[in-house]
Amino acid sequence: MLGDFMYSNPTRLYFGKNALSSLGQELENYGPNVLLTYGSGSIKKSGLYDELVSILSHCRKNITELPGVMSNPTSDKLREGAILARNRNIDLILAAGGGSVCDYAKAVSVSAHYDGDAWEKYFLKMEEPECKIIPVGCVLTMVGTGSEMNGGSVITNHAQKLKIGHVFGDNVFPKFSILNPEYTFTLPAYQMIAGFFDIMSHIMEQYFSGTDDNTSDYLAEGLMRSLITSSRIAVKNPKDYEARSNIMWIATWALNTLIGKAKTQDWMVHMIGQSVGAYTNATHGMTLSAVSLAYYRHIMNDGLKKFARFAVNVWGINPEGRSDEVLADEGLKALEGWMREIGAVMSLKELGVTPEMYDGIADGTFLLDGGYRKLTREEVIAVLKESM
Ligand code: NZQ
Ligand code: ZN
Repeated sequence: MLGDFMYSNPTRLYFGKNALSSLGQELENYGPNVLLTYGSGSIKKSGLYDELVSILSHCRKNITELPGVMSNPTSDKLREGAILARNRNIDLILAAGGGSVCDYAKAVSVSAHYDGDAWEKYFLKMEEPECKIIPVGCVLTMVGTGSEMNGGSVITNHAQKLKIGHVFGDNVFPKFSILNPEYTFTLPAYQMIAGFFDIMSHIMEQYFSGTDDNTSDYLAEGLMRSLITSSRIAVKNPKDYEARSNIMWIATWALNTLIGKAKTQDWMVHMIGQSVGAYTNATHGMTLSAVSLAYYRHIMNDGLKKFARFAVNVWGINPEGRSDEVLADEGLKALEGWMREIGAVMSLKELGVTPEMYDGIADGTFLLDGGYRKLTREEVIAVLKESM
């Protein structure tokens, strides 16, 4: 491991079937005004909403509600939340939902006390917050993004056809997150599977980069193996607590900064996937699955040794008598087999992408240089075509 780094993670996690019982004690750390933000109703159906209101009321909090956070939250919704949080003098933002609601809460937390255009400052200019930041707590109901223990916040601007993520520092990480695997049981299969692939992609984005012998890569391999095992169980029986709890925990570690330490990182699948999302509003994890195989086959020869290692250490392929080229190819075939087995989306066509969108999607794709090969705009278009 050759890189220097600082590691700290300020988020307190409460994990398991009784995790919510710790919310009351967490609430004592904050003032009386709580902004309860959530999506389009799943927490009402599941009964979580009633439980949260009951705990907040018992703790004598003044609740301001901010419902209707959409998947892929928008810059318009961000503006609405920032104004509300400021006007109500909010002390804590409590996000109940998936990555979209958690991401949104973080975006509101840095925008409420900023006087200018938050979209422009944090997402177009990538500036850091200098204003007061409202603390955030999360009650997670969908697994995948890792938003419960990181500084990521992804906002979509439909008018500009841009979907951009800002990875904030640990002053924006949730102060606490409540992770009860049972909350994920009510997820529709499509969302569950999208989450599984999102986790795999987060790990691969960090794994497929660098050439040194790095402990982070061994951690990544262990997480991928556990995900493959548990996802196979969960697609057959979504109520298998053991599998779903493993997956919830894997998702958190996949993107809470640990396995990226001392490494360069790729993130091109996410850059392309996010631009696809800006054009189609498709489910995040499925935008990644649709482009991953074409992308990895495109860069495989540039990172051959790591792709061969992926085949052996993650998929258990016997290296004897096989060249790196053969191993790398078999590893990607094993990845493809697993994706088909769990039911991930395998083509951009399925997400509504049409050839007329290629240029716009390529223009909205940030070209990063942390992976094994820096793509050109033309190569992005080639990957899009191969992903159809
Ligand atoms: O709106 P509700 O009613 O809550 O319904 C949601 C939504 O329709 C539903 N859902 C969530 N939990 C449920 C449930 N339905 C039934 N039962 C439950 N227990 O699922 C749908 C999807 O939820 P969403 O929060 O949109 O999904 P996800 O967690 O995948 O979040 C996606 C967003 O996170 C961003 C993505 O770009 C996207 O905007 N990401 C955030 C990252 C980060 N913070 O680091 C990294 C990721 O790469 C990703 O980019
Ligand atoms: Zn992701």
